[in-house]
Amino acid sequence: MTQETMDGPMDPEGFLSIAREVFAPLYPFYAGQFLDWSGLRRGLCLDLGCGGGDLGLAVAGQSDFTVVLMDRSPVMLAASARLARERGLQGRALPLAGDACALPLADGCADLIVSRGSLMFWPDLPRAFAEVRRVLSPGGTACLGGGLGTAEMRQDICRKMAGRDPRWASGSPPPPRPGTSPRNHEKALREAGVTRYRIVREDTGHWVVIGG
Ligand SMILES: C[S@@+](CC[C@H](N)C(=O)[O-])C[C@H]1O[C@@H](n2cnc3c(N)ncnc32)[C@H](O)[C@@H]1O
Repeated sequence: MTQETMDGPMDPEGFLSIAREVFAPLYPFYAGQFLDWSGLRRGLCLDLGCGGGDLGLAVAGQSDFTVVLMDRSPVMLAASARLARERGLQGRALPLAGDACALPLADGCADLIVSRGSLMFWPDLPRAFAEVRRVLSPGGTACLGGGLGTAEMRQDICRKMAGRDPRWASGSPPPPRPGTSPRNHEKALREAGVTRYRIVREDTGHWVVIGG
């Protein structure tokens, strides 16, 4: 399974094995980064497009947050529930079916929203950004985007992925999907009426940070 198939007919099991065997170091790394950016350590965290739940559960493991693990794929949700049990975090983790463009959550309920490797698949970015802003609490922070971690993590991931997926054969990730440029994100944020945001482009990842 490749990330490019995540918005079409997909092979969630294939992605889950990549998450566990290749991407694993990314999740605690980004969880720590997002907790630092938010300055928060408790409340409700939403992991949007959670896949196997690794990022949201890493947030829960490093803080007192309760996490909603949201995905539109039932297979991913079942995997995230399994991982929560394996980590003994089932009491602070709620797998919930939902679409980024129509979040089944109350206004202002989420103090931290994290999302890695998913927004490039959301069919209507302005609508999704408006939904994120709607459910974000006053004083909350949303960190949405993607990345392959530090230079060392990235190198290791590229090497492992080259053995699994020909699109990584050159030793680099496949090119970004169309519409994922910062300019496109800014346009979508404007259309969504989101005014408090910053676009973070670092070697370790590219993020839309809302609120904060
Ligand atoms: C490449 S996976 C990333 C999973 C996880 N965040 C990670 O970093 O391991 C993308 C995930 O986004 C989910 N997804 C794609 N579009 C979505 C949408 N509109 N609403 C909710 N989830 C979505 C997919 O089902 C998939 O689990």
